[in-house]
Amino acid sequence: MAHNTDAEEPNRRDFLYIATGAMGVVGAGALAWPFIDQMNPDASALALASIEVDVSAVEEGQSITVKWRGKPVFIRNRTETEVTEAKDVPIGDLPDRLARNANLPADAEATDPNRGVKDKENWLVQVGICTHLGCVPIGDAGDFGGWFCPCHGSHYDTAGRIRKGPAPENLLIPPLEFVSDSTIKIG
Ligand code: FES
Repeated sequence: MAHNTDAEEPNRRDFLYIATGAMGVVGAGALAWPFIDQMNPDASALALASIEVDVSAVEEGQSITVKWRGKPVFIRNRTETEVTEAKDVPIGDLPDRLARNANLPADAEATDPNRGVKDKENWLVQVGICTHLGCVPIGDAGDFGGWFCPCHGSHYDTAGRIRKGPAPENLLIPPLEFVSDSTIKIG
């Protein structure tokens, strides 16, 4: 693979990012990930690999949607009721019992604390792509007060967990951390 034309270019593969969810550890400034993908993104894609979002204007009960790596990400400031409802659900009632949280080990259970942001349980940040066939669910909708995917009728609860319908998995939680009181870094 060492063609002459490549020799003068920096080795971009050193700076590629792994796919969401493949590792549970996100360190501050950990921008270089091991190469496990065949992608070879250009500089603009690399620039979007990590974003910082100011959520200071997002009131309790409100959501915003931001774009991260070309995907919608739902950021919701959950109400106490939403959190309580999510906590009260027995794990045995969940079709998908895994947290699907890129910040936790792959076998973490889908409890509410494992879904909400650590130490800031009111915040729920998740990739807004239905795990069935990829539609974008609607917020504040469905039988469980969370999200509803109108494409084939998947209902997600207030922790973004699939409760009814064809979607096989809970909504994915991307790598994230609060880097200040009101700024979330995603990616
Ligand atoms: S894509 Fe969401 S239910 Fe099919």
